[in-house]
Amino acid sequence: MFFTLLLQVIWILAALGDEHWTYEGPHGQDHWPASFPECGGNAQSPVNIQTSSVTFDSKLPALRPHGYDQPGTKPLELHNNGHTVQLSLPPTLYLEGLPGKYVAVQLHLHWGQKGSLMGSEHQINSKATAAELHVVHYDSDSYNSFSEAAKSPEGLAVLGILIEEGETENPAYEHILSHLHEIRYKGQMTAVPPFSVKELLPPVLAQYFRYNGSLTTPPCHQSVLWTVFSQKVQISKGQLEKLQETLFSTEKEPSQLLVQNYRVLQPLNQRTVLASFNQDESSYTTGEMLSLGVGILIGSACLLLVVYFIAKRIQKKKLRNEKSVGFTSAQATME
Ligand SMILES: *[C@@H]1O[C@H](CO)[C@@H](O)[C@H](O)[C@H]1NC(C)=O
Repeated sequence: MFFTLLLQVIWILAALGDEHWTYEGPHGQDHWPASFPECGGNAQSPVNIQTSSVTFDSKLPALRPHGYDQPGTKPLELHNNGHTVQLSLPPTLYLEGLPGKYVAVQLHLHWGQKGSLMGSEHQINSKATAAELHVVHYDSDSYNSFSEAAKSPEGLAVLGILIEEGETENPAYEHILSHLHEIRYKGQMTAVPPFSVKELLPPVLAQYFRYNGSLTTPPCHQSVLWTVFSQKVQISKGQLEKLQETLFSTEKEPSQLLVQNYRVLQPLNQRTVLASFNQDESSYTTGEMLSLGVGILIGSACLLLVVYFIAKRIQKKKLRNEKSVGFTSAQATME
């Protein structure tokens, strides 16, 4: 009896130990796969999106968020969970334009250390931005709960929004950032008045990259249909500093700043990244460039010839006119 109880306690402690993870140190990301095998999988996130290697897919529609601008009247819960700041979202917010109806669950942020302009998880052409917003959804047509969907392929849909430092304060992000000082320590929560979550997204929702990936934190389930928007959003330097300097990853003193909560890039392996829009119209191949050059040359030559002949004809006509004028005036003087 005592023995089984002891075993149970050991088992629970071991399970709890497994739950513990950080970004750096003995439980850091290099060690995630040992406790969370899926973190060592071959379809992990985040990835570097190389725009020269993406595949344009004309059938990818613009994303249509519903209810994002009217998130009800109930306050939203903002939580410091020691890994990030997370805002709970009501299921009245959902996405269309994906295979199925995906309802919102939560959103959270990733950022770098104090003063750093590198803190995003995804990169475009090997360039990180200062921070990244993730809006997490699950397929409510196919699954009864988030936790069930989180373990199934394409069970989740996450929107990735790259955030860079800009000149002006972003009022939408202030709905979150102005409350950070209320939840400085891990485990703290506060209530945030509802606001338009739509304004956290970039204005153009039709241009994005799409790939199959994973949660970027343990247990790293490979169940996420990722949408990373091509357009970035801006927050001010002061807002970025608030994000980088307010929260602690610890429950009490000694306090440790919650910074650099981003995962390093994961290999793309055999995966394809789709683009909903035709990249850089100016990026012609050498062959296209050459034929374009030859085309312009022939075109200009033809135009020159035409202009030359027209000019010649006008000149001829003028000469003829002058002759006839000379003739009539000569006639006139004779009379
Ligand atoms: C994601 O994987 C599914 C198969 O599980 C596949 O049908 C789909 O085309 C993939 N999507 C992308 C964007 O590669």
